[in-house]
Amino acid sequence: MARIAVFGAGYVGLVTGACFAELGHIVCVRDVVDEKIEKLNAGQMPIYEPGLEDLLVRNRARIRFTLDAAEAVDGADFLFVCVGTPSTYSGDADLSAVWTVLAELPVDTRVVLVMKSTVPVGTGERVRVALEARGLDDVAYVSNPEFLAEGTAVRDVMHPDRVVVGAFRPEDADRVAALYAPLETTIVRTDVASAEMVKLASNAFLTTRISFINEIANVCELVGADVVDVARGIGLDHRLGPHFLRAGVGWGGSCFGKDVSALKQLAGNSGYHFQLLSAVIEVNDLQKRRVVGKLEKRLGKLRDKRIALLGLAFKPGTDDLRDAPSLVLASRLLAEGAEVRAWDPVADARDLLHGVAFCETVLEAVEGADGAVIVTEWPELSGLASPEVREAMRYPLIVDGRNLLDPAQARAAGFVYEGIGRPSPPSGAPAPAPDRSVELAG
Ligand code: UGA
Repeated sequence: MARIAVFGAGYVGLVTGACFAELGHIVCVRDVVDEKIEKLNAGQMPIYEPGLEDLLVRNRARIRFTLDAAEAVDGADFLFVCVGTPSTYSGDADLSAVWTVLAELPVDTRVVLVMKSTVPVGTGERVRVALEARGLDDVAYVSNPEFLAEGTAVRDVMHPDRVVVGAFRPEDADRVAALYAPLETTIVRTDVASAEMVKLASNAFLTTRISFINEIANVCELVGADVVDVARGIGLDHRLGPHFLRAGVGWGGSCFGKDVSALKQLAGNSGYHFQLLSAVIEVNDLQKRRVVGKLEKRLGKLRDKRIALLGLAFKPGTDDLRDAPSLVLASRLLAEGAEVRAWDPVADARDLLHGVAFCETVLEAVEGADGAVIVTEWPELSGLASPEVREAMRYPLIVDGRNLLDPAQARAAGFVYEGIGRPSPPSGAPAPAPDRSVELAG
């Protein structure tokens, strides 16, 4: 049993803390945000993450939450750094929260400092120099990047594909690796710089796969192929594998954008132009806007057309709106003069999107709509092509931004269906212009 301090109560910190408590360790999670700590101490969840609440309740006796850095570090064997590393204006990672953690270390501490936050390659070396300069010679440093995805975070931590441990000294790596011993997994031991690079390269490769399949989807649309079948055919090749080949409205989330940009900048700052990553980012930016063209193909000009955006979170299973494609899409639609109505089962975008009508139910969102766009593939939307929705919409257009529905079934149910990278009949005459005079008069 170890005593573990976790700095940062975001997705990574909370899930890491809860999972170590589940493994029998004594955990203290520290954050600087009052409200978060208050909620956690009152047994409430500051984030929506399936399974996390159960885990925290079950391990209540072994995990506590505090604002006080000294209290968290006191007697700790390990300090896991799980603070945010957002992008700066230059696209580099902002490490100020990491440096603050270091500044807060008491001079007599002997913790193993474990970096879980995603940091540029070279950070470990800089931290080591900073620790020595402060006389913190007894503090060991280990890079232990996190690969959990939101929505499946607890499972990802308890059943990881691999655990990467990068250290300056083998004995430090041994201590961190021992924490993961109860999990059946492969421990990859590297030097610190390589561990840092594994994290950045993993996210870069995942986004490359998505941007790749999105470009294949765009070509499929032009040549009459179906990207869903194409992805299946690609994915069965054991050298390629089936994952991250779902074409859609583009990748979002708190990590992909910032990490890919951080790697691109890291390369640039080191004198290398990472051409491939620039293209991956550009393809994604354009992909988020393609839905507008699909709506226009069927509806003509979007001014005064009522569009329902279904799903706002950057993916299902989370209420996270950071870098969500829905935000770009809603803004584009508003700029075109469309009336936007939005629904999401958990994400609340009221503070982020002004001029959008937020609806409690899918049916309310599609009421009188000229088009409905599936932006996030929530399971609740799998029955969208229903008679009730058909009846409620003014023009029965579904743009399926995640290829969630069966196109043949949706068309058979009377909808005009447009997927991403799927064959679609010619557009024909655009939908009639809306007559909102009755509503306006009312
Ligand atoms: C991602 C990685 O999957 C994690 O391994 C990593 O630890 C995490 O970033 C991080 O660095 O913190 P996450 O952002 O939670 O996890 O979500 P993903 O499931 O990877 O999805 C990211 C985006 O890609 C979503 O918008 C999703 O809709 C999109 N996506 C994913 C696709 O468009 N197509 C796919 O085939 C897969």
